[in-house]
Amino acid sequence: MADKNSLSSINSPYKRTEAETDPRAVSISMLKGGVGKSTIAVNLARQLAAHGHSVLFIDLDPNGHASVGLGFGEQYHNTDEDVGDVFFNEADPASVIYDTGYEFDILPSSEELEQVEREIVIGDVFQPSALLKREVVTPLLGEEYDYIVTDSPAYRSRLTDNALVATTNLMLPLAPGNEAMSGLERTIERQIAPLRKHLDVDVLALVPNMLSSRIDQQTQDRQLLERLNSHDNLQDRIPNFARITDWDAVDTGESELVPGIRDRTSITKAYGEQKPLLDYDPDCDQLVCFEELAHIVEAGRVIRHE
Ligand SMILES: Nc1ncnc2c1ncn2[C@@H]1O[C@H](COP(=O)(O)OP(=O)(O)O)[C@@H](O)[C@H]1O
Ligand SMILES: [Mg+2]
Repeated sequence: MADKNSLSSINSPYKRTEAETDPRAVSISMLKGGVGKSTIAVNLARQLAAHGHSVLFIDLDPNGHASVGLGFGEQYHNTDEDVGDVFFNEADPASVIYDTGYEFDILPSSEELEQVEREIVIGDVFQPSALLKREVVTPLLGEEYDYIVTDSPAYRSRLTDNALVATTNLMLPLAPGNEAMSGLERTIERQIAPLRKHLDVDVLALVPNMLSSRIDQQTQDRQLLERLNSHDNLQDRIPNFARITDWDAVDTGESELVPGIRDRTSITKAYGEQKPLLDYDPDCDQLVCFEELAHIVEAGRVIRHE
């Protein structure tokens, strides 16, 4: 049964003390497909790289959309040596990491990742949710890379658990629609809460995405923004680009804020052209949103500038 108060457990029970310059790993996660996980993960990695950081992007979704979308279809289909071999300590991470050509590196997904997951589940594997942490993130974060960004599947799996255990920081994308909040609750209850018993998992940001319609009337976009912005436990995690406190100003037309991330054809087209948004359309008005997400990862939290 869904716990009505599950949204309140978005807060980490632990106190955080990291300095703003610490290396950091983050997972883009949501138990719902098509909300923009891969899009946000790729473009977040790109913006962090644009700030001069060394960045690794890890694609843990067996569908490989982000890998193929960055031009790594060949590596996705070549399973001679892949992320599974790294998990089982049969290959060095460096042998499956590539330069994207966009200032960040990628550890691509593999078409055999589902099989790898089954092996993790049925095999006699020591700490099955800590493989990515042990084999990739611990050795490379703070050494080879300042930041690591992972993309993960839309269903609860050992792969997602591996991403969360390895990164301990999350960004949760939400698209307008009836199921947005239930997807968030499901993600908190089924994915985050069970891991919290063992480790400090922190939600850095909730990221509304694919906003299209007007918000000065009752639309699903408005409903999503109102809910996120009014909930005591969620509002600290809403990026400035989606933060609305004065709905009267919105309704009277006084507010100039056009919240993001909005639906833009150049975001979809960038994927078809196998490019991050910054490289496909540097003038896109939504780049500022991905920019702020990069700042949030750098700071370890949303920095309010009101
Ligand atoms: N803000 C946006 N504007 C336009 N298209 C978007 C936007 N965000 C995502 N998309 C498109 O929507 C589809 C689903 O996004 P994706 O990132 O693959 O979601 P997920 O990884 O959660 O399944 C993709 O075709 C992507 O290009
Ligand atoms: Mg995806």
